[in-house]
Amino acid sequence: MKKVAILISGSGSNMVTLAQSMTGDHPARACVVLSNRPDAGGLAKAAALGIPTVVVDHKDYKGDRAAFDAAVMKALAPYDPDVVALAGFMRILTPEFIAHFAGKMLNIHPSLLPKYKGLHTHQRAIDAGDEAAGCSVHEVTAELDGGPILAQGRVAVLAGDTADALAARVLPLEHKLYPETLRRFVSGDRTRIDV
Ligand code: GAR
Repeated sequence: MKKVAILISGSGSNMVTLAQSMTGDHPARACVVLSNRPDAGGLAKAAALGIPTVVVDHKDYKGDRAAFDAAVMKALAPYDPDVVALAGFMRILTPEFIAHFAGKMLNIHPSLLPKYKGLHTHQRAIDAGDEAAGCSVHEVTAELDGGPILAQGRVAVLAGDTADALAARVLPLEHKLYPETLRRFVSGDRTRIDV
């Protein structure tokens, strides 16, 4: 059975769908949920699902990314994860951290990558007049939001759309695609899904 560590910063809705998918004949289980924010809503949700939780507060490291990432690696080590799934984890990781989990780390990003790496993705899609927006699940490499895309889901941008309205239509797609992609990834299947 493979072990999956899930890293969050916020409400953890993607984390919940990932964790809930890993039951029955699924080849993996959630082994730990780690947050860089002590007040992340997802921590209580993980605890309610019976998953161990860990907090490594980035504020304790005062901008020292290398020290923060080292602390996260140390906190994850006892759980010995086979896969690290970033699920709304809003920290930029150092090359050392990414190398440590090379080939084992996934992220979900709320845009049709390679468009709109970084923040404010839905507003940027609206401002650009794009006809479609969506989300991407990708492998994490040293390039921010730049690793191989494993899955992409698209929705139409509607007249008068706001970033919040668009986010609310993309999120259910994230909840469908991320668990599907994780299941395939832990089974060694990296073929791309497009919906
Ligand atoms: C999700 O929309 C995810 O795609 C996004 O944060 C949200 C987390 O929601 N991730 C990023 O923007 C990564 N750069 P959740 O905590 O409810 O899963």
